[in-house]
Amino acid sequence: MRIRILGISGSPRKDDVSGTYKLVSTVLENTGLDYDMISLRKKEIGGCIACLGCAKDNVCKVKDDLEPLREEIVAADAYVIGAPNYYSTLNATTHAFLERWFQFRHQEGNLLWGKLGVAVGVGGMAGRFPADDIEKFFMYSFIETVAKVSGQGAASCYTCGYGETCKVGVPRMLYGEDVKITPEMIPDVTKDDNLMQAARDAGKLLGYRLKNGHDRKAVAEKMQQQMMEMMKSSA
Ligand SMILES: Cc1cc2nc3c(=O)[nH]c(=O)nc-3n(C[C@H](O)[C@H](O)[C@H](O)COP(=O)(O)O)c2cc1C
Repeated sequence: MRIRILGISGSPRKDDVSGTYKLVSTVLENTGLDYDMISLRKKEIGGCIACLGCAKDNVCKVKDDLEPLREEIVAADAYVIGAPNYYSTLNATTHAFLERWFQFRHQEGNLLWGKLGVAVGVGGMAGRFPADDIEKFFMYSFIETVAKVSGQGAASCYTCGYGETCKVGVPRMLYGEDVKITPEMIPDVTKDDNLMQAARDAGKLLGYRLKNGHDRKAVAEKMQQQMMEMMKSSA
């Protein structure tokens, strides 16, 4: 059976400027496997409304742009999901998208159990928060995070037009109040060799794990165990 990976970029920005999109794509390209890439940009996806309409059959009844993606999510063997850092967490669009994975969790709902994932986070300062959040979402579906990739992308403050004068913007925060913005100063994930290498390595590792006897049942059991321990320690 053909192995297929689903990549999701949760950034609302255009693909060619989004650091999240670039990193998720790099991970996918290095898996050596078939993949689909979906951007959540301009998609209308609301959060879970707790209607419990999915409890019986594991199918969400809300009609929005997530509905046509459901089959692709179920069919994938692994996920590479990336989100930008908004207020030290993952952005609302990606959060809404992942909340709706509640539909896969009920009764014998093992549609996602034991699959593999890579979590990607990009921030104007730091990307680790959304990557950690995505790992947590994966855990709730008993998906093992084989790698996390996170780094610094371009904060909009560099290009909003007020970056040199705005008192709360990233340029002044990093370079002081006399900052003069130059193209070299603007971060871009592709300028960071270590970050791009980490993305390539994550893709290779995911490809290796999928191609070399990926045992979904064993992974699901391991993740269930980890989840139990997390629940107990947070009780
Ligand atoms: C509403 C909003 C909130 C943000 N909050 C943070 C933040 O708390 N920390 C941070 O490092 N970057 C923050 N950023 C900057 C983005 O994470 C940054 O621009 C990132 O590169 C976006 O990724 P993208 O290029 O894939 O869209 C914020 C941006 C926006 C629009």
